[in-house]
Amino acid sequence: MLASAVRDCAGAGWDIYELDLPEFDMTDSSRVDEVLELIGPEVIVNCAAYTNVDAAETDESLAMRVNGDGPANLAHAAKRLGATLVHISTDYVFDGLKTVPYLEEDPVAPQSVYGRTKLAGERAILESGLEKFFILRTSWLYGPGGKNFVEVIIRLATEREELRIIADQIGSPTYTVDLAEAIFNLLTTAPRAASPPHGIYHFSNEGQCSWYEFAEEIVSLAKEQGAQLKVQKILSIKTEEYPLPAQRPTYSVFSKAKYKAAAGATIPEWRESLQRYFSARA
Ligand SMILES: NC(=O)c1ccc[n+]([C@@H]2O[C@H](COP(=O)([O-])OP(=O)(O)OC[C@H]3O[C@@H](n4cnc5c(N)ncnc54)[C@H](OP(=O)(O)O)[C@@H]3O)[C@@H](O)[C@H]2O)c1
Repeated sequence: MLASAVRDCAGAGWDIYELDLPEFDMTDSSRVDEVLELIGPEVIVNCAAYTNVDAAETDESLAMRVNGDGPANLAHAAKRLGATLVHISTDYVFDGLKTVPYLEEDPVAPQSVYGRTKLAGERAILESGLEKFFILRTSWLYGPGGKNFVEVIIRLATEREELRIIADQIGSPTYTVDLAEAIFNLLTTAPRAASPPHGIYHFSNEGQCSWYEFAEEIVSLAKEQGAQLKVQKILSIKTEEYPLPAQRPTYSVFSKAKYKAAAGATIPEWRESLQRYFSARA
């Protein structure tokens, strides 16, 4: 999902090489070295991950290989080749117990296998000795070309009269197109900065909402666009009424001050970005 937005966002001047399973498995270090040496990239943007949060609970070893060993392999290759590594991480590295926005340096405490494996990926990059890297933690990602909450709600709203959506988890939706733009903002800012702004960043759309509020907005925009919906009622429920294998952070709003200062950029509010997504998919 994110990789296609990054590809589409790259302006003239970028030669993009898209690598994916099965021909490129980032857990295979010799394959990573072989392919990247052949390409000789200036930048490696890692959008790949084991992203099935609930399946990870019973598939820890594969999740750890992909989310921990994969980024480690990319970091070592980037260091050898003098390339910059951009890596995407997640709000799931935090416990979700804060009530004000998470800063990059806040203590991490993942509550799920997925969160622990993504944290292992971050740590592998930090420990690789690679200097030129950006780790962007993001949350509630949606965009074209992927299975995501927005598409799930639109589908359910066409199939069911009543939706029951969790209202006690608060976060910030993130449109892949905005995240892709943020990646390029950081990459193009770095060579001009007095001291290169490499490191960990938080990025999501501005504002916050519950999944329930997010779903309400999705249904309202789908209606405006003339979608034939069956849904009559959206009910707010509590997390414990919809048990899932992996624990989600209750609160995962990010402070984006570090990104905004480094990139000299503003970030669209989540409702505005959702509207742009609906216009694009119309
Ligand atoms: N989605 C969210 O809500 C969310 C929130 C916060 C952070 N993130 C992070 O954002 C990034 C992008 O997420 P996304 O939703 O765009 O992911 P996605 O659509 O699930 O895409 C992940 C891609 O990684 C590939 N992949 C899996 N294992 C691989 C391996 N060993 N080698 C090479 N490629 C492999 C997958 O291939 P297959 O499809 O063939 O398995 C898939 O194409 C990820 O790092 C994710 O952890 C996502």
